[in-house]
Amino acid sequence: MVNIAVLGYGTVGSGVVEVINTNPESINKKAGEEINVKYVLDLREFPGSPIEKILVHDFETILNDDDVQIVVEVMGGVEPAYTFVKKSLLAGKSVCTSNKELVAKHGPELLEIARDKNINFLFEASVGGGIPIIRPLNSSLTADEIMEITGILNGTTNFILSKMSDEGWDFDEALKTAQELGYAERNPEADIEGFDACRKIAILSSLAFGNNVDFEEIYTEGITKISALDVAYAKKLGYAIKLLASSKKEDDNFYAMVAPFFVDKLNPLYAVNGVFNAIFVKGNVIGDVMFYGSGAGKLPTASAVVSDVVDATKHLHRNIHSYWSSKKLELTSMDEANFKYFVRINGKKANKLKDVEDSFGKVLEVVELDGAPDEFAVITDFTSEKTFKERSAKLDCIISTIRVK
Ligand code: HSE
Repeated sequence: MVNIAVLGYGTVGSGVVEVINTNPESINKKAGEEINVKYVLDLREFPGSPIEKILVHDFETILNDDDVQIVVEVMGGVEPAYTFVKKSLLAGKSVCTSNKELVAKHGPELLEIARDKNINFLFEASVGGGIPIIRPLNSSLTADEIMEITGILNGTTNFILSKMSDEGWDFDEALKTAQELGYAERNPEADIEGFDACRKIAILSSLAFGNNVDFEEIYTEGITKISALDVAYAKKLGYAIKLLASSKKEDDNFYAMVAPFFVDKLNPLYAVNGVFNAIFVKGNVIGDVMFYGSGAGKLPTASAVVSDVVDATKHLHRNIHSYWSSKKLELTSMDEANFKYFVRINGKKANKLKDVEDSFGKVLEVVELDGAPDEFAVITDFTSEKTFKERSAKLDCIISTIRVK
């Protein structure tokens, strides 16, 4: 029997206990051992709940119990999660976590401790909710050099953008529903400002490229400036607006960014709606691969955590090697990246298009909306971020801009 302790009985923690209680036979068969939840740690009381008898309030009880071989950290936030995880690993207990803040900030250090102790630090649920993506990068796509990862990595923002487009909901209504459904972070700023997707692409990029991507160096824009008119223009032009997290290797340059993009109908990410996430990976041998599934929510996330518990059980005294080293990966400045841009212009097309083309060169599309008679929009040709910024600074009629994928 393998004893585990679950730190945190919130949405994901209660999901972990529920998943283990839902499929005990098949989970135990796949793990090759019986998995027993010996403790649940939480500051709160849960009278009448099935975990009442195994609830503890002091982490030391778990740390000092040599029978606990695997610790499941699903508290979220950096502290006290970091302290508890580090102490658990140093005590020889494997750790499975869904905590992307923790993994993005301390991943290399915690992986190194696990390596030294010949145990495991696993974090499948930290990116993409229930979608298997960490294990495929670590174990399946190992014949390839990864050239690009582009994904919809935040369920809350994808839910908001989908509802704004499909149902005409306003931003606040969609956010409130996402919070009620348990998708959003405690502080939804992390979702809507792109910080959550930023941490997730930092984790994926570090695993894919082998060196540590500092999430604080990733260019990050959220969706708070996206308006109903931006969405209407996108629809008229045949695009959807998606918050994309992306990293790319071009020769010796590495780019990473999070921002809303116009995504066209031919792109598989166009059809990824609601809380679903999708991750596109390009390898130099395999070509293109896509991963798709529920990106947030109690049971999908708990499913990924429990899959790590099974893996940790199968490798109790053997470290599963990870490619992610502590060496820093230097990112190339965003100024060097090239995009097409959607640009909304204040003024009539007849008066302003010439000024716009004098600045940006010949544009690829021009569009007007029935409900917005005093403005129009264009899509520019490819230009570097630096050139685009310089050119748009000279025009005083720009309402908004969004990159085009
Ligand atoms: N708030 C996150 C999301 C939860 O919406 O994707 C899953 O990491």
